[in-house]
Amino acid sequence: MGALAFLSLQSVELVYMAAAFLFILGLKRLSGVKTARSGNALASLGMALAIAATLVRVGTEVHWWVLAGGVGLGTVVGIVLAVRVQMTGMPELVAFFNGLGGAASACVALAEIGKFVGGDTGGASVFGVRGADFAVAVVLSILIGAVTLSGSLIAFGKLAGKVNRNRFGPIGGRLLNVLLALLALWMCHLAGFSDGSGGLVFSYHLILAAVALVLGVGLVVPIGGADMPVVISLLNSYSGLAACATGFVLHNNLLIIAGSLVGASGLILTRIMCKAMNRSLVNVLFATFGEEDSSAKDEGYSNVKAATAEEAAPILDAATSVIICPGYGMAVAQAQHKVRELASILEKGGCEVSYAIHPVAGRMPGHMNVLLAEADVPYEQLFDLDQINGEFQNTDVAIVLGANDVCNPAAEKDPNSPIAGMPVLSVWDAQTVFVIKRSLSAGYAGIKNELFDLDNTLMCFGDGKKFVDELITELKDQ
Ligand code: TAP
Repeated sequence: MGALAFLSLQSVELVYMAAAFLFILGLKRLSGVKTARSGNALASLGMALAIAATLVRVGTEVHWWVLAGGVGLGTVVGIVLAVRVQMTGMPELVAFFNGLGGAASACVALAEIGKFVGGDTGGASVFGVRGADFAVAVVLSILIGAVTLSGSLIAFGKLAGKVNRNRFGPIGGRLLNVLLALLALWMCHLAGFSDGSGGLVFSYHLILAAVALVLGVGLVVPIGGADMPVVISLLNSYSGLAACATGFVLHNNLLIIAGSLVGASGLILTRIMCKAMNRSLVNVLFATFGEEDSSAKDEGYSNVKAATAEEAAPILDAATSVIICPGYGMAVAQAQHKVRELASILEKGGCEVSYAIHPVAGRMPGHMNVLLAEADVPYEQLFDLDQINGEFQNTDVAIVLGANDVCNPAAEKDPNSPIAGMPVLSVWDAQTVFVIKRSLSAGYAGIKNELFDLDNTLMCFGDGKKFVDELITELKDQ
């Protein structure tokens, strides 16, 4: 190796180290609402450095137009998707990106194996020629990458309401999944450790990819719709593990570090979500919860009292303390700006306004925080469930805006409820509860909410944004 090439390799490793540092710093800052934006910017800068250094590293081996084509296509697709996606569609987009991450890892490993069998191996196994680390890293990249790809696409389809369990026949059955997992392990063994011609070894890897694709579908298809965000977080972790394994295939330290960070943070997030729903990961993966046919029920209520904006406004006008509890419906209605306007009017009248943020309100972690931040709601007014639950009993009005499951008393009071044990916002302790939603339909868990029947609850039927706007008009007229 010439001195110049050696120097450039050293600089690439140095830039990789800087990128890894920026990833870690970015992740750290992403964990706080106030520092999240700068965290995102730092991590993006790290990724830009990583791409630039990789282009330098592989620029001598690959035609520039292939590199430019890949970077250009990825940039255009990324920008278009990011600009067009609605906040409510973010989990689908994350699922799609996870899938692409898994696909990239599997494809790189297959390409490396293609190069390997293209050389003269003398019929020896991958293990025999390249050692255990390479053989294991390749099969893990293909196995985890392909499971992530197909599993993520199914999760994407389920969230978008386009995938129905019944269309998959026996795929997704527990016994078949066990058999597929055993077959995948057997193929890993054959692919990495058995002797054979180059063509045969490559076919083993291809069969492994095919089995893993079917396994990914089988693992995700039976999981209930309400658990898809948890599954997406888990698949995100898988995509990191696949990338990490690919890092070992390519001897690329940055890929190993970045993959480990994604793998670990995805697992931590999965755990946080399971804890917030009081479910174990095993229960999420193997118990059907919130599946399509447990559809919304709006019958069975006997004490529902409806209020128009005209009737609700005087109660709000007289309130000295209000807690706003947003949920998925606020995201659907895009009511966050109107909510901020309503809060400002109440505050001008001397009312204290706070926001209660349930950890799984909406459809992704931090969903409500992001929307309220977009509407410039001060961070200081946002309180986590633990911080605010004791406050409802001293509060005049709790406004439940497009939230349902996260305020369902059944979680605390009915041990047989599917959401039993999930920590919920005790909105019913407030003097008056306004529930703003379009109907008595259930939330994602598909279950009845006794809150709607309580004596101190007033149902404010209508689209979240429209109803809050009507409240604002009424309050201005008071
Ligand atoms: P949900 O329980 O899903 O309820 C949302 C409510 O919003 C619905 O009942 C719906 O009632 C109402 N809504 C829909 N569009 C509306 C609009 N335009 N205006 C006003 N209301 C509207 O939401 P939640 O309370 O936020 O609970 C989240 C659920 O997702 C939980 O079951 C949670 O376990 C699950 N989940 C969340 C996550 C994360 S990370 N956030 C992860 C896994 C699972 P109408 O149709 O009557 O309007």
